[in-house]
Amino acid sequence: MRYRREIDITECEEVYPPSEDTFLLLEAIEVGSGEAVLEMGPGTGLITCHLAACAASVVAADLNPLAVRCTEANLRRNKLPGEARESDLFSNVPERFDVIVFNPPYCAGTEEGPLALSWAGGADGATVTARFLADAPGHLRPGGRIVLLLSTEMDADAVGEALRPFRRTELGRRRLFFEELWVEELRPRDRDE
Ligand SMILES: C[S@@+](CC[C@H](N)C(=O)[O-])C[C@H]1O[C@@H](n2cnc3c(N)ncnc32)[C@H](O)[C@@H]1O
Repeated sequence: MRYRREIDITECEEVYPPSEDTFLLLEAIEVGSGEAVLEMGPGTGLITCHLAACAASVVAADLNPLAVRCTEANLRRNKLPGEARESDLFSNVPERFDVIVFNPPYCAGTEEGPLALSWAGGADGATVTARFLADAPGHLRPGGRIVLLLSTEMDADAVGEALRPFRRTELGRRRLFFEELWVEELRPRDRDE
């Protein structure tokens, strides 16, 4: 999706601000006008707002209540439809979707607090992502897909193991000074694959 300047985002305290990873993920996502989409971990809601402008419906779920309020406020500010709710991954998300998008916390760390939720991905940087990938297929409609941001900051073995049940396609990549980020589209493998 192309970044739309007319979408006006206000940043919020203790909520991850739009950054390089946000924009790389945004550029890699393609959604159809008939599709139901979930953004896991919306932060300020920049990606959620773009999805709301393109897709049939959007739900955004974040463990940080300040991010939920920030996303709701940014949807309202831009007069866009969509719902934001508090949830630890899928704990409060019973629905199924055509597309699930996630820019997860991917640095090694176990710190607590609203802002730490945006970067602390567990001791190996991949713990939240592995939990997400274990549950996400159960929330996809038939033919559905996941669009996930990945980083060299994550433990490669741990993330490789979590990605094994999926067919993977790379959608975009960016090398930064200290790390490399990329985006993959994931589709659950059939039983016989
Ligand atoms: C790297 S930030 C991405 C924010 C935004 N999507 C973006 O790209 O700018 C990760 C987001 O995931 C949220 N998050 C972390 N752990 C979560 C969990 N267990 N369940 C739901 N959201 C979580 C954080 O609060 C944060 O908003």
